[in-house]
Amino acid sequence: MMNQLELNDYKQAIADLYNRRSQTYDESEWHLQICLNLLKYSQTSVGQRILDIGTGTGHLAIAAAQIVGDEGRVIGVDICAGMLEQARRKAKVLGLNHVEFQLADAEALNYPTNSFDQILCANTFPWIEDKEVALRRWYQFLKPGGFIGIHTPAQTAYVGYVVLRKVFERYGVILEPSNRIGSVETCHNLFANAGFEVVEITTEQHGGYISLDKAKATWEGIVVHPLPRQSENLLSQLSSQQLLQAKAEFEAELEALQSKLLIWDDLTTLYILGRKPERSILQSS
Ligand SMILES: C[S@@+](CC[C@H](N)C(=O)[O-])C[C@H]1O[C@@H](n2cnc3c(N)ncnc32)[C@H](O)[C@@H]1O
Repeated sequence: MMNQLELNDYKQAIADLYNRRSQTYDESEWHLQICLNLLKYSQTSVGQRILDIGTGTGHLAIAAAQIVGDEGRVIGVDICAGMLEQARRKAKVLGLNHVEFQLADAEALNYPTNSFDQILCANTFPWIEDKEVALRRWYQFLKPGGFIGIHTPAQTAYVGYVVLRKVFERYGVILEPSNRIGSVETCHNLFANAGFEVVEITTEQHGGYISLDKAKATWEGIVVHPLPRQSENLLSQLSSQQLLQAKAEFEAELEALQSKLLIWDDLTTLYILGRKPERSILQSS
């Protein structure tokens, strides 16, 4: 299926990436589990109207549709046509008529104000380019008293990224490959700045031990084959000699972390639950 959205090069690269993954995406249980956790923390209930941001193959949207029932409604949006195709196919098999999948950029949505009881976003928030602007936009779509639930990996997650970030900082380069929001404190500030009350931030650890080679492969993904915009700064700020040296330092630091041929790969995961106040300042102004 053609992607009919006008996307910038960064978002087009994301859509292409997930188009390539769409056929096999559901083979892993990981994403589904995160979606079910987010639904549990968000206390989604019968009759609600839910917006699923970056719905992918519809893990969260479909589970939400089963919870809200026929009296509720779920909309899942995504920029990737291939992922949505899978989501629509699954909803059809299950006979779910109250879930709809829309090809749309989550940062350019345009629903009437106060449309949804909950806006949920699993495994997608790190991709959002301007998080503060996006949150303000989503705030408008949420009913007063409605909940926003967002899942994101913490700043400490993924040992390859953590070490890479530290090495590049020594060269004066700020590297944020996964563009994640990181700490509990930054989550609080981000949400509060968009007008939400932070209800709860739940932290889970999903880490495990990985091989040195897997950790080292982060260099390939971020430095050698980055998505557009992710490494423009990086590559323009460092000479090829500096890059070689940075790579050697990166690998040496990972090797130092190795124990019994394995490395601990932290995967601290945050579930942030916010609420749009009943009487919102943004609404009355
Ligand atoms: C890791 S998948 C998560 C899918 C689903 N939420 C899940 O947990 O299984 C990330 C999804 O976000 C989508 N995405 C990334 N940026 C987006 C944007 N700006 N608007 C809508 N979808 C976006 C991608 O196309 C992809 O399908």
